[in-house]
Parts: sequence; structure tokens; C-alpha cells
Amino acid sequence: MARLLVRPLHWLEPERAHRLALSSLEWLGRHPRLQRAVHGLFSYEDPRLEQELFGLHFKNPVGLAAGFDKDGRAIQGLAALGFGFLELGSVSARPSPGNPRPRVFRLPKDRAIINRMGLPSAGADRVVEQLARLWAHPVPIGLNLSFTSQLRLGRAEIIEDYLESFRKLYPYADYFAINLSCPNLPEAEFKPTSPEDLEPLLATVAQERARLGGGKPVLIKVSPDWTEAELDRVLEVAGGYIDGIIAVNTTTSRAGLSTREPELVSQAGGLSGRPLRERATEVIARIYRKTEGKLPIIGVGGIFTAADAWEKIRAGASLVQMYTGLIYEGPGIVREINRGLARLLEEHGCRSIAEAVGLQAEPR
Ligand SMILES: Cc1cc2nc3c(=O)[nH]c(=O)nc-3n(C[C@H](O)[C@H](O)[C@H](O)COP(=O)(O)O)c2cc1C
Repeated sequence: MARLLVRPLHWLEPERAHRLALSSLEWLGRHPRLQRAVHGLFSYEDPRLEQELFGLHFKNPVGLAAGFDKDGRAIQGLAALGFGFLELGSVSARPSPGNPRPRVFRLPKDRAIINRMGLPSAGADRVVEQLARLWAHPVPIGLNLSFTSQLRLGRAEIIEDYLESFRKLYPYADYFAINLSCPNLPEAEFKPTSPEDLEPLLATVAQERARLGGGKPVLIKVSPDWTEAELDRVLEVAGGYIDGIIAVNTTTSRAGLSTREPELVSQAGGLSGRPLRERATEVIARIYRKTEGKLPIIGVGGIFTAADAWEKIRAGASLVQMYTGLIYEGPGIVREINRGLARLLEEHGCRSIAEAVGLQAEPR
């Protein structure tokens, strides 16, 4: 039924469809009674799905991935869809238009999307305005930070850009995600897989967090395209500074696609959705093994069903997120996945999600 809601959107150009969906959710957020009715329809509650992680309470493990609501416009409407948490952004310190359009392409045969948005953002000040309007967070809210890509910044300025957003947004988020893995940026002077770049960034953010007197969780978001050595190096450098890891961002790989149309497959940008599923799970499993399960992982990439989410949890993810699945399946997917997870817990004799995390991880 909820799938029928998104079908007409697929007749529209992807970015127009997205704008329409976001405006509808923003509108929903201004109508509390309707919002409650929608929440009643789309949410699924079960105490076994609840978790405490990095000092936050999650009613369920299914979150919205970064990129859908970049500027925090539709928080209440999105929460009404039953998500356990929302990640907003990526936000950059200054406003930025991103790349020229068209820059989002659907590959329905593969249930995938290619995007080269190039991190458009209304800028940190605008996002502060949006968040300052909320009197309470309906669910935990993460803010995903990137840097202002249009400005062609040098390394020190990139760190300063991240820091400026972090400082301004600090009072308004429940956790922060530092996006180290957007594939759609011009060659920058900053290489996240190089310790000389990564360490100063994370050390500066940690210092700022201490100065702000807080312990709000800071996570990093990693790329599926890094080699194992690069991923291991990032984990080594970041380990002492962060509270968790989000795996993964979109990929530049086009391996295994059924779509043949060159005007689709040859588009530059990051690929998300079903073709990313396996690689994302692989990266999660590696991180879980390398960190011996000590750092919470948010698993993202190609989740369309409860079985997909379960696979990520068993590989080591404590929470999951999705973007492309929501585009293809519609808002009913959140409830479907939560209901399916509760059933899978039952079948496997687990009393909570926490008990299932990492069950599948290979021996170290
Ligand atoms: C159109 C689009 C825009 C995105 N923008 C961002 C972004 O701004 N920051 C970010 O960290 N990830 C961004 N992502 C990546 C998603 O958060 C997610 O990591 C990726 O799409 C894999 O999940 P999925 O297969 O469920 O879509 C974007 C993805 C899409 C499809």
C-alpha cells in the first residue's frame, strides 16, 4: 500500500520527486494530529528492538541515512515514518549549491541510484535555525558534517570548515558523523585515508568537544572503496578519537550491474542500493573484527528488507540506516523491517538486537 505512494514519484525526474517528497514530509510536520496518525500507521514498537548506545536511547535500530534531509527541513515528518533515528546532512559550514543538474539517476533494474550531488548544503547557520525550532527531538538526531566543497579549500581550511559546523551545531545534535567518504568531491588537498590529514582533523574535533564541555558522540563515515589497508589505517588512527563508525557511503564501482543503458551506468557519481549490499556487509564485518566489537557500527548500504538489516546486524552493526530502499519501497519499509527484525530475533532465540550483533562475524 505504502509502495503505491511512491510509484507516481518515479514518473518524475529524481530530484524533483525528492523535493516533492521532502516538502510533503515538511508539511506533515506542521500538522501534529495527522503526524500522530501517520506514526500510528508506520511505526512498530517492540521492547526487544530498543537499545542504549553511546548514551542515547534508540526505540528501534532502523535509521534514515544522510543525504535525504540535508538541511533538517522535515524532521517531524520523517520521525512520523517510524525511524528509530535520523541522520541529517551532510552539512557544510558555508552554503553550497553542489554540482550542476542532472546529478541523480535511478537504475530501477538494479534497485540502485547513482548520485553526484557534490554536497549541496544550505550551510550550518541555516541548519541551526531549523533545529533551534524543535522543542524536543522526536528521535535521536545525528548531524553529518562535510566541508564546503565549492570553495577549493586547502587542508587547514578544510579542518577549520568541519570545525566551524561542529561548533555551531554542537548544541543541536545528539551525535555527529564526520563524512570522510563522499565520492563526489573535486580532488581535494585532504586525504582521509592519510594519517597526516585524518589525525589533525579528529584531534581538533576532540579538543573542541572537550572545550564545549560535552561528551556528544562523534562517529566517522567510511568508504566501501578504500582498500583493506586503507580501512585498517583509518581505524588505527581514528580509534582513540571516535565513538562509532558508519559503514558505508556510496561506491564508485559499477561491478555486477544488470542495467546496460550507457546513459545510466556511465554517469559519474556514487552508486547506492542493492549492488552495494554485499560490499557494505563485508566492510562492517571487517570493522567489527578489527575493533573486536568495541566500537558501535551503524551499517548502511543496500538494505531493502528485514533480512538485509539482519545480515548487517549479524556482521556487527548495532544500528542500520537506509536511503535507496526508502526511495524504491516507500515509507512502509521502516515498519516492515522492524516487524521482520522482531520475528528474526524470535526465530533465533535472541532477547534483544544487542544479542544478535556480530553473531556472524568470523573468528578473529
Ligand atoms: C542522493 C543521495 C545523496 C546522498 N548524500 C549523502 C550525504 O550528503 N552525506 C553522506 O554521508 N551520505 C550521503 N549519501 C549516502 C547514503 O547516506 C548511504 O550511505 C548510501 O546511499 C548507501 O545506503 P543505501 O544503499 O541505503 O542508499 C547519499 C546517497 C544518495 C542516494
